[in-house]
Amino acid sequence: MRVLVFGASGMLGRDLLAAFSEDDATGLSSRQADLRDSGGVLSTVQQARPDWIILAAAYTDVDGCEKDPARALAVNRDGAANIASAAIQARSRLVFISSDYVFDGEKRSPYETEDPRNPINMYGQSKAEAESKLLEIVPDCCIVRTSWLFGIGGKCFPDTMLRLAITQPELRVVDDQRGCPTYTFDLAAAISGLVRKQADGIVHVTNRGSCSWFEFAGAILAARSPRTRVIPVSTAEFRRPAKRPAYSVLSGRSLQEYGIDLSDWQDALTRYLRQRND
Ligand SMILES: NC(=O)c1ccc[n+]([C@@H]2O[C@H](COP(=O)([O-])OP(=O)(O)OC[C@H]3O[C@@H](n4cnc5c(N)ncnc54)[C@H](OP(=O)(O)O)[C@@H]3O)[C@@H](O)[C@H]2O)c1
Repeated sequence: MRVLVFGASGMLGRDLLAAFSEDDATGLSSRQADLRDSGGVLSTVQQARPDWIILAAAYTDVDGCEKDPARALAVNRDGAANIASAAIQARSRLVFISSDYVFDGEKRSPYETEDPRNPINMYGQSKAEAESKLLEIVPDCCIVRTSWLFGIGGKCFPDTMLRLAITQPELRVVDDQRGCPTYTFDLAAAISGLVRKQADGIVHVTNRGSCSWFEFAGAILAARSPRTRVIPVSTAEFRRPAKRPAYSVLSGRSLQEYGIDLSDWQDALTRYLRQRND
């Protein structure tokens, strides 16, 4: 199977290349193919003629998207549409990585795939608009919504907590946003499984269970820096340019329908911390 991964230099992208290492997989960074360059994207895809394209590339800085909405839409929505058009022309199947931030966070039970999108920040809007465009251009594409990613070598929450804990005896962490931490290693394995099952439509893929950022920080520091105190704070006390949904837990039902189930986030965190020490 020939697989082309856009965003291969990113946190998830690196694990995707490993997950497809037994296949004929090629990975691209933004320097090799900028999603905004429709001609470049098309010729790259036509040359590679992949069976599957995995679109893991995105402008992922949530506050950056709020400050630069034109870039958010150009990369995350229009760039994704460029890939979709190229996929149609090359007759390649497509997996698009989307986000829990397409939801407004008003629910208090896990979001199902058919719940309405209602993003409350620019990053979420760019992903929500990309999803609609992609489903129009490539009706059989597979949209994988995921959340709160952490992975080896990535700029992620556990990494930030452990770095801050070196110099700070106590850390203030938001306790009123709830989501599903997800290990990119597990997510990449699930995406590989979905591809092999010819998945289409929207699938929610996260590690099992949910927590607040405060609870997540507590688990990280208990394992590696037990003397650091974690203090719960509210979102209102911790102002940031982009609003975040208060609750963005994704239901695992759509993934289980494909016979795939990921471990709980605590187990994933333990494996990530072990791997970091290598
Ligand atoms: N991180 C999370 O918590 C989270 C949550 C939900 C969904 N997601 C989604 O999951 C996917 C992977 O996230 P991640 O955290 O692994 O991303 P990441 O580490 O920030 O990597 C982003 C990747 O996108 C590439 N990229 C950025 N702008 C591009 C452009 N204009 N053209 C082509 N490539 C471009 C980057 O290439 P360079 O290295 O060359 O810049 C890099 O390979 C993304 O679609 C993201 O939206 C992430």
